[in-house]
Parts: sequence; C-alpha cells; structure tokens
Amino acid sequence: MACKKKCESKEGSGRDKIVLAYSGGLDTSVAIHWLQDKYNLDVIAVAINVGQPPSSDDIVARALRNGAIKAEFVDVKDEYVEDYVWPALKANAEYQNIYPLSTAIARPVIVKALVDVAKKEGAKYIAHGCTAKGNDQVRFDVGIVSLDPELKIIAPMREWVMTREEEIDYAQKNGIEIIVKKESPYSRDENLWGASCECGLLEDAWQEPPAGVWEHTVDPEKAPDKPTYVEIEFKEGIPVALDGKKMKGVDLIEKLDEIAGANGVGRIDHVEDRLVGIKSRETYECPAAVTLIAAHRGMEALTLPRDVIEYKRGLEHKFCEIVYDGLWFGGLRKPINAFIDETQKYVTGTIRVKLYKGSCTVVGRKSKYSLYDTGLATYAKGDKFDHTSAVGFIYCWGLPGQTAARAHKKK
Ligand code: ARG
Repeated sequence: MACKKKCESKEGSGRDKIVLAYSGGLDTSVAIHWLQDKYNLDVIAVAINVGQPPSSDDIVARALRNGAIKAEFVDVKDEYVEDYVWPALKANAEYQNIYPLSTAIARPVIVKALVDVAKKEGAKYIAHGCTAKGNDQVRFDVGIVSLDPELKIIAPMREWVMTREEEIDYAQKNGIEIIVKKESPYSRDENLWGASCECGLLEDAWQEPPAGVWEHTVDPEKAPDKPTYVEIEFKEGIPVALDGKKMKGVDLIEKLDEIAGANGVGRIDHVEDRLVGIKSRETYECPAAVTLIAAHRGMEALTLPRDVIEYKRGLEHKFCEIVYDGLWFGGLRKPINAFIDETQKYVTGTIRVKLYKGSCTVVGRKSKYSLYDTGLATYAKGDKFDHTSAVGFIYCWGLPGQTAARAHKKK
C-alpha cells in the first residue's frame, strides 16, 4: 500500500473538486490558483512520488499556502517498480529499440493514484500539467477516462497561453509562493527508471548534446580506467540481488543507477517519433534500466528456447507501443503481459555485467535452468553431440529446396 502524508487546510467551500497532479514547480503552483479562478473549483493537490528528486521545501505545505483545500503526498515507488517497471523489464522494453520508456512507464501509476484520490474525495475533475505537444497529455487523458469515464480532465497548460515570464508575473500578482529556480534551458522529467531531457540546444539535431544536458551519469571519457563488474541475480525474470546481496526493487535500481552511472553507462541520444506526429530530439539517462535490460536479455538467451525468444520479440515491440501510446489500461496490455510472464518461469540465474566507459556488456551467465550444454557445444573432448545424425537432418531440412529446384528446372 502506498505511504501517504496528508494535510488539510480550510473546509471545502461546497464547490466541485478537482484533483491536481502537483509537482511543486512553477506550472502546477500557478495552476492551483488558475483552476480556482477560471473554473471555480476546489483544488486537491496531489504530489506523487515515483522517485523524482525531492524539492528543497515541503511542497505539500506550500500547496496549502497557495490555496489548495487539501494536499497529499503519495509515495508509489514500490508499486511503480513491482507493477510497471518489472513488466517493462520482462518485456526488454525499449521504444524504437533505444528508449527504455522511463517517462512513459511512470504515467499509468500516476494516473491510477490520481483517479484513486478523485474517487476517495468525490472529485469530478482531474487536472495535469501536460502541454499540447507531448505524449504525456495522451497518456494522462486516455488513462484517466479508461479508469473512470465520468471524470472530466482539465489541462491548464494546454489552455492558457502564458510564457514562463508571464507565469511568474501571474504568480507575483496573485501572491502565489513559488520557488523560482534558475531558468533551465532544457525541459526535464525524472523518475526511478530514468531521466529525460529535451528543448534548448538539443533542438539542433546535428549538434552533439552539450555537457550540461547530462546530470546523472559521468562522461564516459572521464569514467574510471578500470571496469566495474556487477552480478545481477534474476528470479523468474525479476532482479532480486546485486553482487550477492538480496535487495528490494527500489533499492536495487537506485544502487545500480549509481554504479552504472559512475561508469558513464546509460546515455541515450535519439530522434524520436511522438504519438502526436512530431519527431523530437531527446536525450535520456537510464543507467540502471540500460544495464538491467542488457542483463535480462542475457538471462533469456541462456534460458529460453529460440522460438520463444523470437516470438516474444514481436510482443515486446507491441508492449512498447502500448506503453508509449498511452494504452496501458486498454485491452491488449494485460494479455501480452500474461504471455510474457509465462515465458519468465525459467528466467532465473545470475548475469555478470562489465561496465566500462559508457559500455555495458554481459560477460558471464549461469542458471540452474540453463539450456546451454557444454557437452553439446564443445569442439573439444567430452563432445556428446551425435555427429552421425547431422547428415540425415540436413537431407530432410534441404528436401523442400531440392524438390523445388528440380520442379522449376522444367520451366
Ligand atoms: N519523449 C518522452 C516520452 O514521451 C519523454 C518526454 C519527457 N518530458 C520531458 N519534459 N523531458 O515518453
């Protein structure tokens, strides 16, 4: 169950209630006031923790000072890892073969938390801070109506036409307490599974990302000259221990983020296809995700038969599309996950990964369910493979080709 810290200020005014996905930043702080002013609604501010860096102040208290009738902090980190990140890992999920979906996969757990609060509070509306150009608005809106079709959505930033300066102006005029940080040239989003960055200098797709883009990883050129090895133990597709130490999911991801990030692992530079039709240049930093996906693929290579690996690949692709396109609560995601879960029964064992100056390579693997049989594989002494069966097998395997070639000669 999620851990909750809750504060209440004044009694509700009897107006309709709106639950606001609140980050404590400029946009959603302004939104508290704007929603009351423009829509005459009582605002319940909900800060949902999926592992983003904490604010320098108590944002729950600030939401109340800024006029929210209630403010809640909901920590869903464990639920996020168990019910969203691990299914993504089991699917080796990388949108367009490169982006571990670190922003996208956090959206459904946030949506679920918002809808839960709306139900509990009897709110008819939900508000979020997404803009009109991104994928996130789709993920929020579609997720919310899929969980409760009666809820109405308001996206202030999609409606108002304020620049950052105008928002600061609005805040000052209306006595809204904000923490104005130095303006970042980038737009960022962070959670436990990774960080995303876009805008500013990144919009020039020809330019290498400037150093200031990267916040969570060491420059591979400056990373240690000696590799770091980590051992990741999997149980049925889920990582359960790091270097022999059993750990719960959140801790394991945080620790691995640190180790892999220190070796410059997890930097991604990509021109991505958004659902809304725009190509956008984004960078990601996902040290733990990149390492775990490589390790998980290594574990599957050892323990799954070829046809399962190949067939699963198609479903992995579909899973990525579903997550990216905001259809987590649609009809196809659960059956796909059920199939994938079935494949994971024997994905148990240990993978050794070498982290070195930005690269992450699987260099060792073992499993009690290993399908790799040295007796069959070896070219040395102890070979168990029946060499005499090769000729008969090849005769049958080549028979259709042989038959066709004879038949076609007649033309
Ligand atoms: N393009 C990514 C996605 O749609 C990440 C967007 C993250 N937002 C940001 N402000 N950097 O999943």
